[in-house]
Amino acid sequence: MSLGNNMIGPEACIHLDRLLYNYRTIREHIDGLPIMAVVKANGYGHGAVRVAQALQSEGVHYFAVFTIDEAVELRNAGITEPILIFSRFHPDQLDIAVEYNITVNISIYSDLSILINYFLRTKKAPIFHLKVDTGMTRLGLDIADLNHVFDSIKKHPELECEGIYSHYATADEGDLSYAEYQHMQFEQVLEIVKMHGIDIKYRHFSNSGAVLNLPQSWHNMVRVGMLLYGAFPSEEVPKDLPIRPIMEFRGPIVSVRKVPKGTHVSYGGKYITKNESNIGVIQTGFADGFPRPWYEEGFVAYNGENFPIAGRVCMDQFMVDFGNVAPKEGDNVLFFGESGKNHIPVEQIATTIHSTTYVLLTAVGGRTKRIYIDTI
Ligand SMILES: Cc1ncc(COP(=O)(O)O)c(C=O)c1O
Repeated sequence: MSLGNNMIGPEACIHLDRLLYNYRTIREHIDGLPIMAVVKANGYGHGAVRVAQALQSEGVHYFAVFTIDEAVELRNAGITEPILIFSRFHPDQLDIAVEYNITVNISIYSDLSILINYFLRTKKAPIFHLKVDTGMTRLGLDIADLNHVFDSIKKHPELECEGIYSHYATADEGDLSYAEYQHMQFEQVLEIVKMHGIDIKYRHFSNSGAVLNLPQSWHNMVRVGMLLYGAFPSEEVPKDLPIRPIMEFRGPIVSVRKVPKGTHVSYGGKYITKNESNIGVIQTGFADGFPRPWYEEGFVAYNGENFPIAGRVCMDQFMVDFGNVAPKEGDNVLFFGESGKNHIPVEQIATTIHSTTYVLLTAVGGRTKRIYIDTI
């Protein structure tokens, strides 16, 4: 049989209709509060531009990315809603932040001095949000520095401090005691803000885990990434929010061969067929973001049935044991997501291989072609 025209390799089919459905579902759950949609790392592997365009059309209030380059990419693609960058800014980037109207992050006291000096020199400055460390011990102002920070801000009323926020370390865990501690720390931060008589428009702390677990920390905006993409941040959160996975990761069967019982398959020859079997070669490998460790217990879905991965995943290909089913060359198998009769939750793979949904989704790339579906 010759190869069909559609046998070109891995595809990530992105259901934008499901993205918007997830957005509405989350907003309803958080009583209509504004959402800052986190679209860093190329929209968690889904394509930041298309995801942001769809969410903007639905009325999302804010976007967050990690680097200034990611923010400029969104602006150049017509995103006009506010965009916050999570990374520490470099002084050379302030001109770009002003030009593209990008909100910067003040997470270290000395960065505020840099911003103030920039303002004194140029008479302009980007809007900023203050990030406070309440227990993540990553980027974030020390609570002990906040009095100095607010004294400096009060001396420069021309600067626009639009937000104050913090980030949870354990909001997606079963034991929420550390998250409760962080919540109390942030309450203390808000008391300090009040004491200084400063009016800050946005207070945001919640990520996906806290959307599900910690309603007391929603404040007046929530930052959401993973739930928008239709996956849960961990196995320990309540999973009753009816979101749907927006990515369908799949790849084509490029060859099928019947082999006898006892045939060794793939590198290391560890997989040995137990019976006469149809072995299919799938054109997708770990270089395309397929999770290599999944081969040990993993499977793919085809026509509503699951079939085991046969042997180690290679860089560009892997094999599947279809047993006595003879699949059609050119057909796709589903790796994860939801498609007709096939459904493999990315969460199940993450748990099995001791990884996370964040790692698995952001890894999808290499030669994977993204296809966007925007109708129901
Ligand atoms: C600062 C910050 N806020 C919010 C998020 C969104 O988290 P999630 O995808 O769990 O909603 C992230 C993601 O890592 C983050 O780094």
